[in-house]
Amino acid sequence: MKDIEGLDENWDNERYVELHLVERVLNLVIPLDNPSSKWIPQFKIKVLYKTNTIPDAVDYFIEDCSKNIKFLVEVKTAKTRINNATARGQLDKYLRYSGVKIGILIDPFLVEIYQFKNGQTKLKNQFDIKNITDIESIAEFIKTSLGVKVRTIAVHNSKGGVGKTTLAINIAYELSKRGNKVLVVDLDDQANASLTIGVNKTEEMNNASSAEELQEIYNFLDKRLEVIDFIDFVNKEEGKIECYKSCITSIPNPFGVDVLPASHKTTDDKLPSNPVVLKYLDTGLQKLVDDYQYVIFDTAPGKNRLTWCGLYAAQYLIIPSQMEYLSVYGIKEVIKTATAVYGDSNNQRSNILGIVPMMIDGKKLNTTVEKYVRKSHPDILILPAIKRATGVAKASNENVPMSKFAGWDKDSPKTSAEVAESIELLTDELIKMIEEFEAKNG
Ligand SMILES: Nc1ncnc2c1ncn2[C@@H]1O[C@H](COP(=O)(O)OP(=O)(O)OP(=O)(O)O)[C@@H](O)[C@H]1O
Ligand SMILES: [Mg+2]
Repeated sequence: MKDIEGLDENWDNERYVELHLVERVLNLVIPLDNPSSKWIPQFKIKVLYKTNTIPDAVDYFIEDCSKNIKFLVEVKTAKTRINNATARGQLDKYLRYSGVKIGILIDPFLVEIYQFKNGQTKLKNQFDIKNITDIESIAEFIKTSLGVKVRTIAVHNSKGGVGKTTLAINIAYELSKRGNKVLVVDLDDQANASLTIGVNKTEEMNNASSAEELQEIYNFLDKRLEVIDFIDFVNKEEGKIECYKSCITSIPNPFGVDVLPASHKTTDDKLPSNPVVLKYLDTGLQKLVDDYQYVIFDTAPGKNRLTWCGLYAAQYLIIPSQMEYLSVYGIKEVIKTATAVYGDSNNQRSNILGIVPMMIDGKKLNTTVEKYVRKSHPDILILPAIKRATGVAKASNENVPMSKFAGWDKDSPKTSAEVAESIELLTDELIKMIEEFEAKNG
């Protein structure tokens, strides 16, 4: 058992623990201002004591009706602690008599999740709180244990033109095709993902026949809220879910995804200088966990702080790379950055799923370069490769995903179909890897 030396004496005051730890964490799990949320502090339960039914109260009853999730929370302090028979007995009693199946015990050092099943309360999962201010990690653990999940994947390589956007938007489409609600976050001021998906008035821009028409489009983009505004809401601590949602464009598009778009406005120099800003995108997206199953981040080439924002918000990272000398050199840089974020986020963010060989010419598969990658980064997987096909650029120009375009490509149907198939295969592989990772890590 840890001692409480070094901890402020406030942590031995239950109300203080509730205000400064529990409520902040739980607000990230089931946001209080979400219309489907119900938070009842001091929730009354009638418990059987000997032969009498007497009223008692658990610290919180929390429910999200839209997700069919409800649980009880019992809070203890640095001194009273949750890992003793009294606390566990109390929770067992509350679960037994309330009909609620999940209970959480929490104090400044530990979180335990219990499940009431077959007449017994059993420990499901526990988490050591190493840093009391790192509420995101604690919330992440509780969300995963409760089954509230959003899977976040960044696509990055610091080298330009390797196929980041192509991969990001096509994987997003494949995930949405499989019935998931998907958000694409465009972190590049070139805005290729927003343009290709069709949320930046792409068609109107292509068809504009006068300076006035173009001006109108620029006026629209100037007013529209996007990634930089989203981060600004976090910076200004405007915690209302509606603020964050107002930055998302949800219009029907061939990719079937929502987009947190970018334009010329979303640039590094507009980010507040505060170093904590790198975690703001993550903080804001945590408010939307109920709305999406997957969030895919397209990043810009080079090294910039917006990319770091994406890496701090994404649980997983995939690295597209051509199998040629210059691109491979870029991989080293990405791995270095991702490793730093992984360590700094308690191993919660930027977990590298693998490298995706891009624009591979059939005959060049398994080149010397690929062998070199396997040797120099033996712990990093090489995922299914995507061949080079002229249809890829055409699909982007038509603003459609590759697997739709392959169906009507008359010029090179075979290579288009191969690319579409390998993107499907890659997506299945990614889902499988993530499921295995989640099963292993609780
Ligand atoms: N498999 C492929 N076969 C042929 N061309 C491809 C393939 N994948 C991508 N391309 C083309 O390569 C170019 C660069 O792709 P993309 O824009 O996806 O790269 P990027 O890494 O996002 O670039 P940037 O660094 O500028 O953001 C585009 O013209 C795209 O159509
Ligand atoms: Mg791009």
